[in-house]
Amino acid sequence: MKLADRVNKIQPSPTLAIDAKAKALKAQGVDIVGFGAGEPDFDTPANIKEAAKKAIDAGFTKYTPVGGTDELKDAIIAKLQRDNGLSYERGEISVACGAKHTLYNISQALIQEGDEVIIPAPYWVSYPDQVVLAGGKPVFIETDQASGFKITPQQLEAVITPNTKALLLNSPCNPTGSAYSVEELQALGQVCLKHDFYIISDDIYEKLVYDGLKFTNIATAVPELKPRVVVVNGVSKAYSMTGWRIGYAAGPKTLMDAITKMQSQSTSNPTSIAQKAAVEALNGPQDAVAAMVVEFEKRRTYIVDRLNAIPGVTCFRSTGAFYAFPDFSSIYGKSFEGKVISNSTDFAAYLLEHAKVALVPGIAFGADKYARLSYATSMDNIKKGLDRIEEAVLNLK
Ligand SMILES: Cc1ncc(COP(=O)(O)O)c(C=O)c1O
Repeated sequence: MKLADRVNKIQPSPTLAIDAKAKALKAQGVDIVGFGAGEPDFDTPANIKEAAKKAIDAGFTKYTPVGGTDELKDAIIAKLQRDNGLSYERGEISVACGAKHTLYNISQALIQEGDEVIIPAPYWVSYPDQVVLAGGKPVFIETDQASGFKITPQQLEAVITPNTKALLLNSPCNPTGSAYSVEELQALGQVCLKHDFYIISDDIYEKLVYDGLKFTNIATAVPELKPRVVVVNGVSKAYSMTGWRIGYAAGPKTLMDAITKMQSQSTSNPTSIAQKAAVEALNGPQDAVAAMVVEFEKRRTYIVDRLNAIPGVTCFRSTGAFYAFPDFSSIYGKSFEGKVISNSTDFAAYLLEHAKVALVPGIAFGADKYARLSYATSMDNIKKGLDRIEEAVLNLK
């Protein structure tokens, strides 16, 4: 079959693929410790599930407006005001089937042939492929552990061209767990002010921050930028609602109208029942989020300390999301039973085969020295997995 060329320009999501492989092995009875998950291991809070059940019983099961109900838009507007000090009207909000779908709609409505999109690396796997699908060119800024995986104003300035259409910011970041301070955002914002491009701020991990860090959006840090900032967020990570598929964008009305138009010819509205659940997530009690953050922070400290204690491994102390992103590169070149580990893909394959541990090779995020471990799994699993990784590293000659 001759498929459209665009299909061959992109890769299937590598993180979802690793998770699926680990789950398949588990289903066959293999005792795998999975560090691949990109979703909280907690249940969706009861009040949210109750709101969805009520929606079904009340017959709220039909089409809604394409870009979300007014009720949900109002809950999002209230959240953006309360948490971020940002004011929006209903016409400046559009709801989609997850933050990934929101980002896809934005790239389709904003990016075209010749447009460049600046993406700090390591990056979330879908950013470059979504840009490429829209005909744009990803322009990467490399960061590393030493710089806390953050771009500097100088690095940003150096890659801006007349073709720059947008900068993609993701703080806290998947895969590094790095998060920008208000001062750092102000410094980057000063560079953005001198030029004319959009800033797509993916805030999906906003609620998951540690060590007392306060999340800030760049439009909050530099209010003059707000007309050019597109805030992307959703309920997946903060409320353990990955399966419900609700994400949203807040930004210029022209863009919101455009992404809603794109959506009217693809999915139509996000699920009516999930929209009701999202209203409860945003307007209801927030204690489940706070409890999740306490648990994640404990796990973060444990996993980072354990990784740093493995000879040859160094791990950045992340301040957000639920990922550790250790540097394993000093063991590249070593071998096991004659087979050399040359890169993150070899290392991940070695761990899966010989240690029964699944993690995501850093190459998936554009950073081959590293690998990503999600700590959205129980402390017992984390301990067991770290014991296995430690032993596997020590077994390399
Ligand atoms: C950085 C980042 N943005 C967006 C998403 C997508 O979230 P959603 O489940 O709302 O589509 C993810 C999920 O892994 C993510 O890590």
